[in-house]
Amino acid sequence: MTSVTLFPPKTSQTSADWLAYFEHNRQNLLTLPWNTPYFLTPEEKAAIAHSIQNFQLGEQSEGTNLMKATRRYVERSGDVEFLQAMKLFIGEEQRHARDLGNFMQCEGIPLRQKHWSDRLFRRFRRGVNLEIALRVLLTAEIIATIYYKALQEATHSSLLQKLCQQILQDEHQHLRFQIDRLERLQQQRKPWLKQASNFGNYLFLMLTILVVWLDHYRVFHRSGYCLMDIYRHCHHTSRYLWENT
Ligand SMILES: [Fe+2]
Ligand SMILES: [Fe+2]
Repeated sequence: MTSVTLFPPKTSQTSADWLAYFEHNRQNLLTLPWNTPYFLTPEEKAAIAHSIQNFQLGEQSEGTNLMKATRRYVERSGDVEFLQAMKLFIGEEQRHARDLGNFMQCEGIPLRQKHWSDRLFRRFRRGVNLEIALRVLLTAEIIATIYYKALQEATHSSLLQKLCQQILQDEHQHLRFQIDRLERLQQQRKPWLKQASNFGNYLFLMLTILVVWLDHYRVFHRSGYCLMDIYRHCHHTSRYLWENT
């Protein structure tokens, strides 16, 4: 296992700054080597196919529930630029789904239409306020930062490695984007209540890791990550994010 450096640099925090960041990122994507002559070996494909199908499905959300919660928040706060930034954020997730889907097509891995874990995550976000929606999302994003690192190391495909590099760059900033807003939403909250909310989020993260591990064991195992590595990474990442925002 190679060391994992996943802590995003501190960035500007206004919605206008985030909007500028997403606009800039859209124009400065890594070039992906779509014409690479390398194809996955049967062993590589067997190890990642099930897993990449589920993550690709998770990435392709249209963000309907998240946008509803964001609109309700923006109506109260008047922060219109946040709504625009959120649209670009969802656009980045859809790009991840599109690129992963194209990679799968190149490798003859069928797209998955539904999976219980995806349905569960969507259900958690249905009808909730922006804070809950962001907390569920943050949980998925923290785990994604170690999952894509493992996927990047699981095969010799330069295309998949570069694609994972781009997704990891994006996801690190997504973490910061979400934590910025969560901090703002909690500004008026009493410190003990804020800590209790964050602790609840932490427990949800720890539980989700176990589910993800069971479903994506082969990718993690192939890259040399054990369950404790994932727990350690997620623990440090969530602690760092809450303490350095
Ligand atoms: Fe993503
Ligand atoms: Fe993300």
